[in-house]
Amino acid sequence: MLDPAELRKTLGCFLTGVTVITTQNAAGERRGFTANSFTSVSLTPPLVLVCLSEKASSFEAFSEADHFAVNVLSENQKDISALFASKQQDKFASLTTSTTAGSPILEGTSAWLACSTHQKVDCGDHIILIGKVEALGRSDAAPLGFYSGNYFTFRQEREAIDASHEASGIVGGIFEKDGNILLIRRDGTYSLPTGQTLGEKNFEPKSLFEILKKAGIDVSVDFVFSIAHEDGDHRAGVYYRGRITSFATPADSGFVLVPITSIPWDAIKSLNQRTMLTRYLRERTESRFGIYVGTAAGGAIKSLAVGAA
Ligand SMILES: Cc1cc2nc3c(=O)[nH]c(=O)nc-3n(C[C@H](O)[C@H](O)[C@H](O)COP(=O)(O)O)c2cc1C
Repeated sequence: MLDPAELRKTLGCFLTGVTVITTQNAAGERRGFTANSFTSVSLTPPLVLVCLSEKASSFEAFSEADHFAVNVLSENQKDISALFASKQQDKFASLTTSTTAGSPILEGTSAWLACSTHQKVDCGDHIILIGKVEALGRSDAAPLGFYSGNYFTFRQEREAIDASHEASGIVGGIFEKDGNILLIRRDGTYSLPTGQTLGEKNFEPKSLFEILKKAGIDVSVDFVFSIAHEDGDHRAGVYYRGRITSFATPADSGFVLVPITSIPWDAIKSLNQRTMLTRYLRERTESRFGIYVGTAAGGAIKSLAVGAA
């Protein structure tokens, strides 16, 4: 028997966009739900599909509908995703919509496809709604992404990565393994691991990847976490967050795994790293990660990912 939690986590590794599926019945009643199970099926004829849980309160409405629309959410529409993933009564009350081929089309999306219901397939605890695309539209708005239970936006990630390439300062990482953070202990002080570049692909002796690899530590990087100037340093430091995939370091390497509940705050000398770790631990419990751009003294957290409803 498969563990449902493991199944969810594994499926969450598949990066998707976020859509809101909408419909309207003859009485003018509008229904909608958030979905990331949207998939293109065929070009000729133009078919798409989405899977709807039989537990959804809109299940009956969509099972009976002969049309529906797929609204591909843009990066500014996390609130709309949360709204349509909720059980709120009238989800459309505060929204501006138009109607195409009988279905509500939301404003400000990256794209939309108005469909006639082509086929419905009962499948496990979901129904597959296959739609024939009757009309469509798209905009320049960057799409909203969904990965591992978190929202994220490609634009901010892109900007952060571009900035990290321009930065000539240090590259560091907050790497986690089973509730422990990787730190370096030297003469009674602690710091996050750093290198001169990330060096993910090319061999560079002073890159973060090579330094860790040499110490017997393999990591996988998730996202940029912070771009901040080190105290008194004009160069930007770029910190990634990621996970430790293998930890086989000699006892005298200086690398230690410290439980997140007993971080030696007073022994971490860099204010920048202390601030960053504090934010990391806070955002970690909320499943909400952002990118910090600035210095330890001041800057802005650009929201990168918000825990899903
Ligand atoms: C990002 C995201 C993706 C989702 N994808 C689906 C999906 O593909 N199919 C589905 O049935 N529910 C999906 N859900 C959950 C529904 O949106 C949620 O159950 C909602 O309450 C359904 O609305 P309703 O009960 O008013 O019908 C998703 C939720 C989120 C946040």
